[in-house]
This record gives sequence, C-alpha cells and structure tokens, in this order.
Amino acid sequence: MNDVVLEVAGLSKAFGGVHAINDLSFTTRRGEILGVIGPNGSGKTTLFNVITGVMPATAGSVRFRGEAITGLPTDAISRRGLIRTFQSATVFKNETVYENIRRSSIFGCIGKPSWFFRPGVVANGQRRAKETVAELLEFSGLSDVATTVAGTLPYGKQKILGVVIALAQQPTQLLMDEPAAGLNPTETLAMGQLVAQIRDKRSIDVVLVEHDIKMVTSVCDRILALNYGKAIAIDVPAKIVRHPEVIDAYLGVDHE
Ligand SMILES: Nc1ncnc2c1ncn2[C@@H]1O[C@H](COP(=O)(O)OP(=O)(O)OP(=O)(O)O)[C@@H](O)[C@H]1O
Ligand SMILES: [Mg+2]
Repeated sequence: MNDVVLEVAGLSKAFGGVHAINDLSFTTRRGEILGVIGPNGSGKTTLFNVITGVMPATAGSVRFRGEAITGLPTDAISRRGLIRTFQSATVFKNETVYENIRRSSIFGCIGKPSWFFRPGVVANGQRRAKETVAELLEFSGLSDVATTVAGTLPYGKQKILGVVIALAQQPTQLLMDEPAAGLNPTETLAMGQLVAQIRDKRSIDVVLVEHDIKMVTSVCDRILALNYGKAIAIDVPAKIVRHPEVIDAYLGVDHE
C-alpha cells in the first residue's frame, strides 16, 4: 500500500463567479512525482496557492502527512515541509547566488522566528546553513556561479536558483509551478533532470505543474489533468496522453 502524502478533498476556490478550483479531490503518494496539466486558467496555480495557504479555500480540505493544514498560515505550512516554487524566477537579483541560497536556508536551519532569541540557536543554525548552501550548490550544478550576481545569470540558471532557494527550506514535498516556463530546449532538459534528481537523490516528493508535455510525461509517475478547476483524469502518463477528454481539452490532437 502506498503512503498518502497530500490529500486534497472536495477543494473549491471561487473568485466571484469564476470557479478556479471546483470540488477537486486527489492524493499524492510517498516517493511520487505527480504532474498537473491543463489549459491556461484551469486552476493549476490557484491549486498551489490554496494548498500552501496563500489564499483561503472556498470549500474542502487539505491534509499533509496525515495532518489537516487547511486554513493554516503559509509559514506554518512551509515549516511542516510543504514548499512551493513560482511560475516566474523569484530570486534576489542584486545578490549573489550564494547569498540567495544562504538567506533561504537560514530560516530552514534556525526554525521558528522566536528561536532567533535562544542562545546558541543562531550560531548553530548559521553553521548548518553554510553546510546546506555548499551541498545545494554542488547538487544543482551552480557551484561555478556561486559568486555571480543572480540577476546577471541566464534565465535558465535563475530558474534553477529559484528551485534551489525552495530546496534550502528543507521541503519533504515540493510544489513546482512551471519550472520550464520561458526556458529553451536545452535548459528545459536540464530542469527535467533536476526535478528527477530532487526525488531520486533527495527523496523529496514532487507535484509538478508544467506545460512542457514531453518533460511531464518523461519525469512523472502519474499525471492529474485539470479543466475548469475539475479533474478530468488522474493516471499514468501513457494513459493520460491517450485519454480522449484530456486530448480534447488540452493536448489538442485528435485521438484515433
Ligand atoms: N487572484 C485572483 N483573482 C481573481 N481571479 C483569479 C485570481 N487568480 C486566478 N484567478 C482566475 O482563476 C482561474 C484559474 O487561474 P490560474 O492562474 O490558477 O490558472 P493556471 O492553470 O495556473 O493557468 P496558467 O497555465 O496560465 O498558469 C482563471 O480564470 C484566473 O483568471
Ligand atoms: Mg499558472
């Protein structure tokens, strides 16, 4: 039996008359990369926003590793190990790559803001943060640009840095919103490999929102297809790419 990690049940989010998420239910499993696909405006980013507490749900619930997290503030959710990345590269453009990762890891290593006042906690946290940064630079292949100012990096590297900043917060599950958006084919390939390694080498579960269907089908164990905030299907990639409704709504190729 596969362990359930994320449990989304009857989740809805309305913006006025727009039902961005509409009675959506699905689960993710331990060790899994779950892809989420769907047309523009089908609710993928809203799903991440509601799961991570950026905006409240209109209805429904989210459980993470057996615990109800619906309605918790974002920092309480991220401290539980559920971390997301953003659709556009979100880095401190005037800081070096090293400093970007260090800033993020310091919170992961020290813990709650109130712990900043405990004797020894900061020094300990800073030491561990330094180790974390070194390890993450190595893991992500960004070591040779560690002292480069982030805003001067090619966009593909900035997006990798965005992912590393999220990894520095010590996730057990990472929600990735279009990591390949705006990347060229070579950069997309590198990003796909990074996503696979996040699961394979770091044992972090991943939910991957992505329009690049080649990347999604090659890297994901299962794929959830959304349309108008509802699940059309959730299945293994080989079945999703042949699913008539998914083809009609998203893939746009006639099935035989
Ligand atoms: N803050 C908001 N206020 C009002 N409407 C919103 C808000 N955020 C999203 N929406 C609407 O909710 C729907 C879902 O948007 P969402 O951004 O989640 O789609 P998406 O699947 O991520 O699209 P894309 O593939 O373009 O990133 C859209 O109709 C969008 O206009
Ligand atoms: Mg989006």
